[in-house]
Amino acid sequence: MGVGVIGLGHYVPEKVLTNEDMEKIVDTNDEWIRTMTGIEERRIAADDEDTSDMAFHAAQNALKDGNIKAEEIDLILVATVTPDTPFPSVSCMLQDRLGATNAAAMDVSAACSGFMYAMITAKQFIETNAYKKILIVGSEKLSKIINWSDRNTCVLLGDGAGAAVMGNVSEGKGILSFELGSNGAGGKELYQNEMDHLVMNGREVFKFAVRQMPESSINVIEKAGYNKEDVDYLIPHQANIRIMDAARERLGISEDKMAKTIKKYGNNSSASIPIALSESVKNGKIKDNDLIVLVGFGGGLTWGAVALRWGM
Ligand code: UT7
Repeated sequence: MGVGVIGLGHYVPEKVLTNEDMEKIVDTNDEWIRTMTGIEERRIAADDEDTSDMAFHAAQNALKDGNIKAEEIDLILVATVTPDTPFPSVSCMLQDRLGATNAAAMDVSAACSGFMYAMITAKQFIETNAYKKILIVGSEKLSKIINWSDRNTCVLLGDGAGAAVMGNVSEGKGILSFELGSNGAGGKELYQNEMDHLVMNGREVFKFAVRQMPESSINVIEKAGYNKEDVDYLIPHQANIRIMDAARERLGISEDKMAKTIKKYGNNSSASIPIALSESVKNGKIKDNDLIVLVGFGGGLTWGAVALRWGM
């Protein structure tokens, strides 16, 4: 049996902040943001809406999508860098709210790669028959750690959550190969400072991402026994359209075969990949039996990729 996605959902807050809105906050302009990042607008959580609330809505949608009861979940893994509190974990809050009374729960900290780390962790528990159904979530309220006077970062980020239930799927489907990596020496390029603000050396992260995304993608494609040409759809971390396009071009994938939620949601850190995956499946861009590649990178520095045969 394979290990794959058996339920999928996402949630984004209602409030939209456009590039024009950003012009009123910092010295920036729509033209710069669009051409340099591909972002047109982003969602911002309400004051009384935290990371666990968004995780809850996304998880509910994933459970509903898979027709799975909360009590069936054996483990909850929430990837986030913006937990409501350092403890209890967002995953424990989520367990309580969902009524997932049989689940163990812990958070995963791998920044924008967090959802990939959660997915691969889930795969191990299911493959060893320790657990059958694992809820993995990427949820971020980045708006609470944004430095709203730093134009280098505040225009890039947005809030949201995506969730998947992982479980057994038929042989040949699900996760075919993976790669996870980290380079702690690069931690200084993207971190949270003593003011609790996100700080980034954009240029350095850009260079790292443009190198790492295609490399990890090619590694998982080859590990799965395929060539670049076999890939049906690419779900890259939504950090910058220029980074995404560079990776896509290195893989020789046409524009219509790559998820681009960045335009309306910006960079949602660990939530970017599951939101993009969920939207792509719902919009019919990903079909049964498609070979898809999920690839993320982020603070740590960390990275992760998966080649996956879609379907159950
Ligand atoms: O998920 C976490 C990972 N994060 C990322 O992947 C982000 C990676 N980095 C990037 O996406 C890009 O580095 C940025 C979009 C952040 C910046 O693009 P860049 O090509 O690296 O530009 P830059 O930082 O070198 O800035 C170019 C110019 C500068 O002006 P000067 O010095 O040339 O006069 C900046 O001050 O653009 C200026 N600038 C802005 N102008 C208008 C920086 N931010 C803005 C802004 N609006 N918001």
